Amino acid sequence: MKEIISDLDILQKSDLEKTEEIHITKEDKVEGKKKLYIESYGCQMNFSDSEIVSSIMKKEGFTTTSNIEDADVTFLNTCSIREKAEQTVRNRLSQINKTKENKPEMVVGVLGCMAERLKSKLLDEEKIVDLVVGPDAYRDLPNLLEEVETGQKAVNTFLSREETYADISPVRLNSNGVTAFISIMRGCDNMCSFCVVPFTRGRERSRDPQSIVQEAQQLFEKGYREVTLLGQNVDSYKWSAEENNKKRLEKSGSDEIVTFANLLEMVAKVDSDLRVRFSTSHPKDITDDVLYTMKNYDNICKYIHLPAQSGNSRVLELMNRTYDREWYIQKVDRIREILGDECGISSDMITGFCTETEEEHQDTISLMKYAQYDFSYMFFYSERPGTLAEKKYEDDIPLDVKKRRLNEVIALQMELSHDRNKKDVGNTYRVLVEGISKKSDQQVQGRNSANKVIVFDGDASLKGQYVNVHVNSCTAATLLGTMV
Ligand code: SAH
Ligand code: SF4
Ligand code: F3S
Repeated sequence: MKEIISDLDILQKSDLEKTEEIHITKEDKVEGKKKLYIESYGCQMNFSDSEIVSSIMKKEGFTTTSNIEDADVTFLNTCSIREKAEQTVRNRLSQINKTKENKPEMVVGVLGCMAERLKSKLLDEEKIVDLVVGPDAYRDLPNLLEEVETGQKAVNTFLSREETYADISPVRLNSNGVTAFISIMRGCDNMCSFCVVPFTRGRERSRDPQSIVQEAQQLFEKGYREVTLLGQNVDSYKWSAEENNKKRLEKSGSDEIVTFANLLEMVAKVDSDLRVRFSTSHPKDITDDVLYTMKNYDNICKYIHLPAQSGNSRVLELMNRTYDREWYIQKVDRIREILGDECGISSDMITGFCTETEEEHQDTISLMKYAQYDFSYMFFYSERPGTLAEKKYEDDIPLDVKKRRLNEVIALQMELSHDRNKKDVGNTYRVLVEGISKKSDQQVQGRNSANKVIVFDGDASLKGQYVNVHVNSCTAATLLGTMV
């Protein structure tokens, strides 16, 4: 069989705007094979899951295609985080409906968080859907597809307490061959009142550390130079051999508890040329241990995504974030004390949460100024069915107010990002080159440890290499430099 890893293709659309749309490498031209077309929406966890799905489908003889017209099976791996995310998927389904008119035999499946949230209701609401599969049920895809072949509709939205897909080697989709994501845990046990994730992803569970280290090792051997460890709340990663079965105990050779700080260290030790990143850190859980481990290893990147959501303690309490403004400020101070001003910090912010006053909104503004974020992902509050906030509080801030507050927060972040970037001008950084720059094929781009994108003159031969780059100028989004 032809090796299809680099030929795989997927369209990825990020509702969180965390990843720009990524397109197409090559198309697999193997004749006579069943073809899968897959689009991913939402967060990195979903993109990472699409790689697991592709691996499962590959075993079933599928190869992927960039052209939905060629597909025997089309999957949308969906997101429910905000109403708009779900609307995007529904619009996409109506477009796909037109394709299906000419191709009635094409199977259409909805995977991911929207599948989990709506379950079989989705089959009634969206007539073209044949298959609904939740995030913990991907191993069942072959059986479900068989069911569909017999003319039935198939649903599996069972949420598991154990599934981590630890043994499935993901097929890397749209890979630049330099950076990759490794999922280290699934689910979330926090109950932030605005958030649908605990309902769509189920209980939190951590993946066997040995399988994580092994995956990092294999990526390094294939030439990858950076891994990002993924989880909704990586600081609550915890793996205890004792709690798991004997077989795993033998495999890991230890009965100790592995914390996130321990895991970070284990992955950092794979090779000093393998960079390690992680996301997301919850302000209530990030420990000094993690910060010191970051300090001790040059290859653990000095960048922390530490979502605040709001700068006001009353709103944070309504959000059930379990920390207040002072606690958050103390965490920022700790990061600066241990890792210095060079450490990048970013955040997520929600404007117009239930009952948020103008003064409370100003607290968000002032917290952002205090933290001097390099970057933020910013949203206006979108009420989600079934969440605690939907049950307990009225969604009472008018849309125009939510949006105006959001615009203020975005404008401030633009200034902060620009200020932070200006501080980097004149410095020289070690940059891992990820590939040709988006704007010019005479230039390459990569990131420094603090996750800043740096663009400079160079060619494709630099891809995957570490180079030192002197920063000459900047915009709010990018540093521009020269290789030294
Ligand atoms: N686990 C991560 C967040 C995952 S969801 C954490 O705890 O930080 C990503 C972001 O989407 C959240 O940080 C939040 O800012 C935003 N978000 C989640 N639910 C939302 C909602 N109902 N309305 C608007 N934004 C929301
Ligand atoms: Fe959602 Fe909160 Fe869990 Fe993040 S920590 S996924 S915001 S419930
Ligand atoms: Fe969306 Fe599910 Fe991720 S709701 S943000 S795809 S965990």
